[in-house]
Amino acid sequence: MKNRKNREVMPNIAFHIMTATMKLMDFLGKRSNKNFRTLDLKSGQTVIDYGCGPARYIQNASNTVGEYGKVIAVDIHPLAIKKIKVKIEKYKLTNVEAILAEGYRTSIVNETADVIYALDMFHMIEQPEKFLTELSRLLKRDGTIIIEDGHQSRSETVQKIEEAGVLKIIQQTKFHVKCKKNI
Ligand SMILES: C[S@@+](CC[C@H](N)C(=O)[O-])C[C@H]1O[C@@H](n2cnc3c(N)ncnc32)[C@H](O)[C@@H]1O
Repeated sequence: MKNRKNREVMPNIAFHIMTATMKLMDFLGKRSNKNFRTLDLKSGQTVIDYGCGPARYIQNASNTVGEYGKVIAVDIHPLAIKKIKVKIEKYKLTNVEAILAEGYRTSIVNETADVIYALDMFHMIEQPEKFLTELSRLLKRDGTIIIEDGHQSRSETVQKIEEAGVLKIIQQTKFHVKCKKNI
């Protein structure tokens, strides 16, 4: 399988451990709720949760964008897609779709999203230019991309975005770097 050769696809056991750790962190500190609120999503938006992992934000996102909005959850790991599909069924999330990324490409059409958020995953990306080019392709002309540093410093995040040259940084907060398309 093509994705299996990609080093960004973690072994299944690592995915299960990550999922359990996130569950525990959320149970202890409700971090995902706090983090989610800082995204400032709005009713009616189409949003992409890129690198969604075990989909800890999916219910909040689905409720926030509402019946006229849409949430597209993308991940490169098949187990993530499986988890999202289970949550879609269990919580009847009719406005959520799960998409498996093939390397740095997805089947999503150009200029789909009002907001793309890539949380706790940018540090895993080995080819930032290719990755950010795909995010830019998926973003509407006036859309916003929200990137969390994850396990790297803010200066590394900024450097990778600036070197790729496809996005312009419009705001930096404690949690995120917010970008627009470089047009
Ligand atoms: C640490 S988890 C974070 C999950 C979620 N964003 C969160 O904050 O809870 C990182 C996720 O990014 C995914 N990922 C890594 N590289 C990716 C890529 N090139 N495309 C899509 N997803 C990717 C991994 O499979 C993993 O599920």
